[in-house]
Amino acid sequence: MRRSMRADETAARSSGNPVSLDGPARDPAVARTTSAADVVHVASLSKRYGEVVAADDVSFALPAGSVTGLLGPNGAGKTTVLRVLLGLAEPHKGEALILGRRYRDLDRPMHVVGAVLESGDFDPGRNGRDHLRVLAFAADVPQRRVDEALAVVGLARAAKRAVRTYSLGMRQRLTLAAALLGSPQLLVLDEPANGLDAKGVHWLRTFLRGFAADGGTVLVSSHVLAEIAQTVDHVVIVDRGHVVARSSLAELVADGKTLEEVYLALTSEDAA
Ligand SMILES: Nc1ncnc2c1ncn2[C@@H]1O[C@H](COP(=O)(O)OP(=O)(O)OP(=O)(O)O)[C@@H](O)[C@H]1O
Ligand SMILES: [Mg+2]
Repeated sequence: MRRSMRADETAARSSGNPVSLDGPARDPAVARTTSAADVVHVASLSKRYGEVVAADDVSFALPAGSVTGLLGPNGAGKTTVLRVLLGLAEPHKGEALILGRRYRDLDRPMHVVGAVLESGDFDPGRNGRDHLRVLAFAADVPQRRVDEALAVVGLARAAKRAVRTYSLGMRQRLTLAAALLGSPQLLVLDEPANGLDAKGVHWLRTFLRGFAADGGTVLVSSHVLAEIAQTVDHVVIVDRGHVVARSSLAELVADGKTLEEVYLALTSEDAA
């Protein structure tokens, strides 16, 4: 069952590219349990890099079955928050929990959360399928998930080509396939639309909505509003490390303003 945030919280197509441009395939692994508890709980999170306060007292919670956009200008602190959530950076203060635990305390993290932080490290000579097979083996994921994940992201036909021949958007899709291997219930995606063409962005939106409709939860960052506005049902807007808005999209635009108008009014013009 969906519920809104707490009341106190206001394929890349190049010529000859064989990527399927069909809509996202259904992921056969999806049978996610939804939980009444918050899937992600970030409380009073602060993170400094020397003099720079990258995140300052950031708090938000994500209910199951929602797609939340973490929005903000360049340097606002989005990646920092996601890195702390995924155990890649230590907070100076506060906490970031997934299903009530720190990432590093999860028993089988790949089965709980799939992350796309940046176009990952690929062995350029290896083909897409083998790249996923290695990851699946390391994470004790059944090998059949490799082909399923490739199909879901529309890379089935390119699976046997060396990753070095992939376009930027195809690499993005491969990274997403890797995140899906463990059939996670949470996806954490940092600027996942980077490199995707219009068709790819549309595909990604459809995919994320379907993932949430199946009970999954998505946290997706973006500094490109147009990519995100039609996908999310909740937004957390950050500016210079601070949360400046946190609500359902419906509430945010309730007085007739567009998301873009609200966003521009709340965020700084200069990169932090
Ligand atoms: N490893 C680091 N060392 C020093 N400063 C950092 C580091 N990582 C981030 N910062 C600083 O923290 C602030 C927030 O950066 P962050 O990458 O979280 O922003 P962002 O919202 O993801 O921006 P973008 O939209 O450009 O991806 C910036 O001022 C950045 O320069
Ligand atoms: Mg970033």
